[in-house]
Amino acid sequence: MAYRILIADRDLTSASLCQQVLRHLGHQATVVDSIARLQQALARGDADVLWVDESFSGLDGSAVFHKTARPLDIILVGRGNSTREMGGALPGNILERIQKPFSAEELSSTLQRALERKMLNQENALLRKRLQARLELEGLVGSSAKMQRVYDLIVKVASARHPVLILGESGTGKELVARAIHALGPASQEPFVPVDCGALSAHLIESELFGHVRGAFTGAHQNRTGLLLAAGKGTVFLDEIGELPLELQAKLLRVLQEREVRPVGSNQRLPLQARVMAGTNRHLEGAITQGTFRKDLFFRLNVVSIKLPPLRERKEDIPALAYHFLRRFTGEGSPIEDISREALTCLMGYDWPGNVRELENCIQRAVTLGSGREIQLHDLPSSLQYGLWAREPTAVPTLEQVEKRAILEALDAAEGNCLRAAKLLGIGKTTLYRKVKEYRLENPGRSAAHR
Ligand SMILES: Nc1ncnc2c1ncn2[C@@H]1O[C@H](COP(=O)(O)OP(=O)(O)OP(=O)(O)O)[C@@H](O)[C@H]1O
Ligand SMILES: [Mg+2]
Repeated sequence: MAYRILIADRDLTSASLCQQVLRHLGHQATVVDSIARLQQALARGDADVLWVDESFSGLDGSAVFHKTARPLDIILVGRGNSTREMGGALPGNILERIQKPFSAEELSSTLQRALERKMLNQENALLRKRLQARLELEGLVGSSAKMQRVYDLIVKVASARHPVLILGESGTGKELVARAIHALGPASQEPFVPVDCGALSAHLIESELFGHVRGAFTGAHQNRTGLLLAAGKGTVFLDEIGELPLELQAKLLRVLQEREVRPVGSNQRLPLQARVMAGTNRHLEGAITQGTFRKDLFFRLNVVSIKLPPLRERKEDIPALAYHFLRRFTGEGSPIEDISREALTCLMGYDWPGNVRELENCIQRAVTLGSGREIQLHDLPSSLQYGLWAREPTAVPTLEQVEKRAILEALDAAEGNCLRAAKLLGIGKTTLYRKVKEYRLENPGRSAAHR
């Protein structure tokens, strides 16, 4: 790839040597010998990379860079150790540093290293962007640093077949991540089979997972293929693995070790081809200490674990998620197309104990309730509206806030019935109507089913 390099160096010997080497390497190189020309060239956006001598930039670069809008890739040129101190405050990415005097070979290898690094950075950025787009296709939204680490892990484990343990509080997206790993892997065309280990009795889950043969137990009128086999070469996601009864933990461990499944009531062993992943919001090490989870199964499942951060630890993802759900729940022709600033501030201020699922439900509810162009503060659940001040125990709430909260709590307790709410508050119904209107809390006629 050919780059445009701007050479800002008053030392014409080194500037023209640099220009020759760069042209020889197939790049465009232009020399500027004054700060004014350099600033003009930067303002025009004429450079991909800047070779800049310390006499130009000064130690903090302020003489040169105050007018450039975009960050630059820079090769810093100095004397002695000066380039080590320089650059910290420069608004760009330092590709290489070189000290004068230098030999032609030194110059050539420094330039080549710098430009290769630039190309690698570009390729990495492109790959990351493509990956982001791909993950978005899988429904994963959020670009916080914590989610980037999750995405990196998803990509790393997607091509393998070993078990993955996905940890995280309820609603953090464990199943979604399991689906993304499956979808990015080589067996994406095969089935993805989620099993909720917490929802079924021990007996049912055994035949659900391993299958059974006719007559294995009362009511087993015909053979049944278990989900571990039904998944074929795809993925079985054992959700809430922490809830799996101990006896089944032993059976599952055997299946994973031997890669064979024996249906209930059968002597036949059938090969397990599916990849097994598991998820839990429980602290499995604690369950091991208490004797409710097998250590050996934990080690077998925990070849790689991915820990999903709770939403409160990546609040910067809230706007993108909120708009993602807004788009999902507003069909074509829906009047709602935005979220008011007040409502967004409220979403950002809340701690989301139910994580992304709670945010998803909250936006769905607001879309159902809202009528204007924007989701408004009063379209959000009252728990969120209190959230604006309830989380700051040191801050004394104003009387207005206390009153708002009392009204919302009474309306919640009275399931939206204003007369009952007014009685609970010890005020007249008309006063309650007036205050609800004044504070724009809720449409008092609105059905309690919405809250
Ligand atoms: N990063 C995300 N981007 C978009 N949607 C998400 C994200 N994380 C979670 N969701 C959505 O939130 C909801 C809950 O996600 P999921 O069921 O994967 O969570 P979970 O951790 O398995 O929860 P639980 O522990 O309750 O089973 C789903 O509707 C999912 O689509
Ligand atoms: Mg789940």
